[in-house]
Amino acid sequence: MRIGILTSGGDCPGLNAVIRGAVLKGTEINGQEFVGFRDGWRGVVNGDILPLERSNVRGIAKQGGTILGTSRTNPFEGNGGPERIQEMLDANGIDAIMAIGGEGTLAAAKRLTDAGLKIVGVPKTVDNDLDATDYTFGFDTAVEIATEAMDRLRTTGDSHSRCMVAEVMGRHVGWIALHSGMAAGAHAILIPEQKTSMDQVARWVQSAADRGRAPLVVVAEGFMPDHEDDAHSERGLDAFGRPRLGGIGERLAPMIEELTGIETRATTLGHIQRGGVPTAYDRVLATRLGMAASDIVNESAWGQMVALRGTEIVTVGFEEALGKLKVVPQHRYDEAAMLFG
Ligand code: F6P
Repeated sequence: MRIGILTSGGDCPGLNAVIRGAVLKGTEINGQEFVGFRDGWRGVVNGDILPLERSNVRGIAKQGGTILGTSRTNPFEGNGGPERIQEMLDANGIDAIMAIGGEGTLAAAKRLTDAGLKIVGVPKTVDNDLDATDYTFGFDTAVEIATEAMDRLRTTGDSHSRCMVAEVMGRHVGWIALHSGMAAGAHAILIPEQKTSMDQVARWVQSAADRGRAPLVVVAEGFMPDHEDDAHSERGLDAFGRPRLGGIGERLAPMIEELTGIETRATTLGHIQRGGVPTAYDRVLATRLGMAASDIVNESAWGQMVALRGTEIVTVGFEEALGKLKVVPQHRYDEAAMLFG
């Protein structure tokens, strides 16, 4: 069996560990051969292929980014579509695709599988928003990076007696904000799942300042103050028609300053959260998922993806992965909120 691997959508620490896990297990145990598609679905549509042998994956589990490149190309646009992709696979002797990606990638993979293509999936997102898996690799690394950044914001905040606002990624869920904010001892954590009034935010900030602390407010990019209905977006739509988020922290800072009189600065952590080496946790999870993905190709489990349930790797259908977003549940927010102010 000859398998083409692709990484698609936003990159994520741990992608290379998945590729290595799949290639090692596949070539050593499962009798498989591999090639890589360059830049996600773009490489599939254009037949842009590179060799992927054991020697190509040596030592890459600790490398950030993806050796295959990625893009947010939609495989149904331009020259794409199932017939064209099947022709390309046949012309290159490729039997199946292993798609490593998030919601957009897996949705495209499902449509292509429904049209008869042989595809298995590996879930990927720093946002940790896929309901079918308990954790996604990359999330732990993003939380670690965000926490370290907040520790730094706190020392400069202390020096100047300022309120520091840290904006983190997460799209429409607040997992990165919740975990990094709890780890850094934030005085307020603002997430998309919980609309919050600016008066409440100001009360938390004031209460921390009254105790002589420099307030730290963590805001997820998808957060909406209670008087707004849409997440802040000023950079248009991505290839899948989803708004590009970011910038809410810069908007909140002057509001907090006006309500409290406390000098306030905002920092947007942005893509730093997706860069650099993966944590040990993410390397292990990603390697296990890659190995399991090789196994499910051998089982012809087309339309299925590997996932983490508790500590076990399981197999679930694409439709389960796409059913609904994994949002921060109320009890997890309430637990964190006891520490605010
Ligand atoms: O889905 C991962 C993610 O990093 C989101 O948290 C963020 O909103 C988005 O991707 C950023 O996308 P891009 O890399 O295209 O700017």
